[in-house]
Amino acid sequence: MTDHISITQDGAILKLGFNRPDKKNAITADMYAALADALARASEDDGVRAILFHAKGDVFTSGNDIGDFMSGAGAIAGGAEIPPVMRFLEAIATAEKPLIAAVQGPAVGVGVTMLLHCDLVYASEAATFHTPFVDLGLVPEAASSLLMPEIAGHQRAAEMLILGKKIDAARAREFGFVNEIVAPGALEDAAMAAATSIAEKAPAAMKLTKKLMKGDRSPVLKHMQEEGRHFAAQLQSAEFREAGMAFMQKRKPDFSKL
Ligand code: COA
Repeated sequence: MTDHISITQDGAILKLGFNRPDKKNAITADMYAALADALARASEDDGVRAILFHAKGDVFTSGNDIGDFMSGAGAIAGGAEIPPVMRFLEAIATAEKPLIAAVQGPAVGVGVTMLLHCDLVYASEAATFHTPFVDLGLVPEAASSLLMPEIAGHQRAAEMLILGKKIDAARAREFGFVNEIVAPGALEDAAMAAATSIAEKAPAAMKLTKKLMKGDRSPVLKHMQEEGRHFAAQLQSAEFREAGMAFMQKRKPDFSKL
């Protein structure tokens, strides 16, 4: 159990909130587990018809907790049990009910890649999107190395996944993974209006429509597993050790000797 994920229900809308603002909503294994469990319950619950991700504080999420990565608690693959992060990623990749996100500030790492599995993404003018996997000596996850090029085109995806460039909400909308940009004060209303509209529609037709739009998910899940294997290997690498130490010491990593 963790109170770093808020779980509330508003009518038929399940709201899942990142609630660790002092650490910029960095996601720990416990937080992934809470999200995965809530999504599993929601898939069985006819009282939930739309799921809305949101966050408290000035940052949507700074991505995976880097301390967890360094201690091994953030393992993405391996071991007898499926790690919480993979349970969460598989849950959003296969969710039958519509997923909506309200991004109020910076989104980093999985904070961006999770959006590629959402059906509707609303961003405030203050939102930014940053996937610095290579800068951390890591590789993309959540099947983002498949989905980002599909959604944005290879060259634009390369700005994010290869260059590690941080983009603003307008650019993210051009890339195609943000639907609408709204003033910061209007974000919650915009996302809730979409969720409410979905929740009022015919539920079986809604599920079928999403299923038809998403098609066969097995290539996405397979790609996610492959990324997970490389990610796990990179977590053990000198490249990641240097990048992780540099983050903790608030300095730029030096890969020149590797
Ligand atoms: N993991 C663990 N701790 C994190 C974190 C993360 N991903 N992101 C932020 N934090 C912690 C910081 O270490 C700091 O802790 P401290 O107060 O004990 O020193 C606290 O959260 C505040 O972070 P800070 O960097 O001072 O906030 P900021 O407003 O200047 O910047 C971000 C916010 C999100 C831009 C910046 O924190 C960041 O880039 N974080 C790392 C993102 C990242 O690389 N994620 C992994 C992607 S795979």
